[in-house]
Amino acid sequence: MKTIIEPFKIKSVEPIHFTTREERIKIIKDAFYNPFLIRSEDVLIDLLTDSGTSAMSSAQWAGVMLGDESYAGSNSFYRFEKSVKEITDMPIIIPTHQGRAAEKILFTVIGGKGKYIVSNTLFDTTRANIEYSGAEGIDLLCSEGKIPSLVAPFKGNIDTDAFEKFIREKGSESIPLCIITVTNNSGGGQPVSMQNIKEIKSLCKKNNILLFIDACRFAENCYFIKKRESGYENSSIQDIARELFSYADGCTMSAKKDAFCNIGGFLAMRSEELAVQCRNLLIITEGFTTYGGLAGRDLEAIAIGLKEVMEEDYLHYRIRSIEYLTEKLTAAGVPVLKPGGGHAVYLDAKEMLPHIPPNLYPAQALVAALYVEGGVRGVEIGSLMFGKYDVNGNLIPAMMELVRLAIPRRVYTQSHIDYVAEVIIETFNNREKIKGLKIEFEAPVLRHFTAKLKETK
Ligand code: F0G
Repeated sequence: MKTIIEPFKIKSVEPIHFTTREERIKIIKDAFYNPFLIRSEDVLIDLLTDSGTSAMSSAQWAGVMLGDESYAGSNSFYRFEKSVKEITDMPIIIPTHQGRAAEKILFTVIGGKGKYIVSNTLFDTTRANIEYSGAEGIDLLCSEGKIPSLVAPFKGNIDTDAFEKFIREKGSESIPLCIITVTNNSGGGQPVSMQNIKEIKSLCKKNNILLFIDACRFAENCYFIKKRESGYENSSIQDIARELFSYADGCTMSAKKDAFCNIGGFLAMRSEELAVQCRNLLIITEGFTTYGGLAGRDLEAIAIGLKEVMEEDYLHYRIRSIEYLTEKLTAAGVPVLKPGGGHAVYLDAKEMLPHIPPNLYPAQALVAALYVEGGVRGVEIGSLMFGKYDVNGNLIPAMMELVRLAIPRRVYTQSHIDYVAEVIIETFNNREKIKGLKIEFEAPVLRHFTAKLKETK
């Protein structure tokens, strides 16, 4: 076996800026121990997100120059629509400026007080848009998905028994929609099997519940199906994707992930009745139906990116690079979520920092420590992001305390990843020196973006 290399050459480079440890100690303190408040020039390796941070290909940049900027009926829209239809086979494609705009429209129409939206795990903006409509978001992840150290092929699956029980308890009329996140970002970037999607489809159909896919990382999920689910070994990624979407009544998508774009998204569906309501909102909040908050050039970049992301050489390298980092960390004894996800490596802060209780945010403390150690920026997916308070104001912690190191697509090389591994291992070896963090300021929703924290003694 030879080294699996990056399947691209670099045509344009962007310098990165080095800082000293002393500088970083001051920077993280001034940023209130919140990585969202650090300036990007102060970050050496930026693993905050894989969203909107991809390197576009030369074909995509060439497409940008072909962008038709007509307000209505732009050629770029029709190329975009064709590309999305080739994957989803859905008749109605509505462009939006990013994923959460599609969510906002969908849940404004579908959500509302007294309703429940079921998922494997809702992403933070998806949950926020559901709750903002007055509805409640319900995560019904399979039990394997809740144990970070457990190796299983499809830890993103929905617990079908729990879903059935939930329908019996609440009544199907109060559940307008189920949305499956592929891959399951908040649960470790873990894939969902075709089998699980089929089972959920049949449950939804029987109970008159719409099934949508949160398709941000559909290609990575399809690659896992090809590699791990029997019967798909010889199928193309496009065929797997077409089957996956065939079970759905619609999807939301952020083109900032598996379309290699810096901005963009869409909402796709089969029901014309639902589409009429969605398009009305689109025109009020995003723009006309053939651009939806995007420039024609963005639509071109999405049309091309959606094809490129399904190339197997790319997906092979992509998934392998996440596995590579996971293996290096595992060999050094660092507790990581296993197996590696599709787009990120997740460190298990609960396991790594048992001396920091959930109300002092161990995963956020680990994010800060990684930054100080080597200028690596990750993000907390734990009690700061998903914690709630009970009636007495005590924290109800999240299920897991994770640090996500999301790998931007086609951006970093193997030596960058080797460096990241060194920084994590060094931090792990000095873990007992890491201190918990206290919240000094928090917003009522999506608090992790703007929260201000302070180190405890
Ligand atoms: N759904 C999932 C599963 C996501 O991961 C995201 C974004 C969205 C929806 C919203 O899309 O950002 O285009 O509005 N995830 C990013 C992340 C921000 O860092 O994981 P968006």
